[in-house]
Amino acid sequence: MATPISSVAEAADILGERLQSIIPPVEWAALADDMAAIRALKRERRAVVLAHNYMSPEIYFGVADVTGDSLALARAAQSLDAPVIVMAGVYFMAETVKILNPERTVLIPDRGAGCSLSESITAEDVRALRRQHPGVPVVTYVNTSAEVKAESDVCCTSANARRVVESLGVPRAILIPDRYLAANVARETTVEIIVWPGRCVVHERFRAEDVRSLRVEHPDARILAHPECPPEVVAEADFSGSTSAMSEYVAHRHPRTAILLTECSMSDNVALEHPEVHFVRPCNLCPYMKMNTLGSIRRALETLGPAVDVPEEVARRARRAIERMLVL
Ligand code: 13P
Ligand code: SF4
Repeated sequence: MATPISSVAEAADILGERLQSIIPPVEWAALADDMAAIRALKRERRAVVLAHNYMSPEIYFGVADVTGDSLALARAAQSLDAPVIVMAGVYFMAETVKILNPERTVLIPDRGAGCSLSESITAEDVRALRRQHPGVPVVTYVNTSAEVKAESDVCCTSANARRVVESLGVPRAILIPDRYLAANVARETTVEIIVWPGRCVVHERFRAEDVRSLRVEHPDARILAHPECPPEVVAEADFSGSTSAMSEYVAHRHPRTAILLTECSMSDNVALEHPEVHFVRPCNLCPYMKMNTLGSIRRALETLGPAVDVPEEVARRARRAIERMLVL
């Protein structure tokens, strides 16, 4: 185990320069203590921490081994050889990792870290949709339970939804469960899209009139919107893409001012990587993502729980839908 932090200089060293720049010194010792303990536990357990782009900076920069959007994390999960994987994100992400790594221990720091999209649809709902639209393939956003994925033909993420839909070569497809992601894909493709009324509690709150006001207040800003935002919000933005696509946009275009219409930690992390860019932050917090803390990650590694389990019969069918996406 890590030894307790004995000085401010030691805490500063553990935090590193980026985190020192945004965390008040009064909090350094407590954060450094958790960070040092997590780093020691990772070595002891031969564990890796996967962290979604919405993790707060002390997780994202302080303890994560791999960071990214849903697609990048699913791909990373396929190539890991660590016996223990901590998914610092939400439950459906941990389930995806477990489905792709059935023989490994997959930990979710807080079992309550759900997702409003995932909770909007059940496996029976998907079976009913199939009865209603016989022969129409079901494309399922990864923000769903393993049981829902198991009923699906193929999965998609916000990074590849249109590509997955078009890869099917069909005139109509069911795209579940996010009505806004589906509407945004429908704007870009000739495939007729059948939607489900799920919504993300974070992204549904952005409004087109607020974006227009931001444009007037910050005329030099580039406005980037996640495709879970309503279509009229995406229409007002300069760019729409997955969380990693937004990051890459800032890295490659380095706008003078950027506005990311998404979860708050995303701007915090990208801003720390690009101090030359000024960020305006009309962001919303995801209450589920924020259940991940250094404390809950530390406890997960100490106790090896909560561990994610997916019944093999469900995992086998869900894996087929996820792997069909990953080979595209
Ligand atoms: P990304 O795949 O773009 O990271 O999105 C996941 C998510 O839950 C966004 O709300
Ligand atoms: Fe789910 Fe929205 Fe949170 Fe993403 S931001 S995990 S879609 S509730």
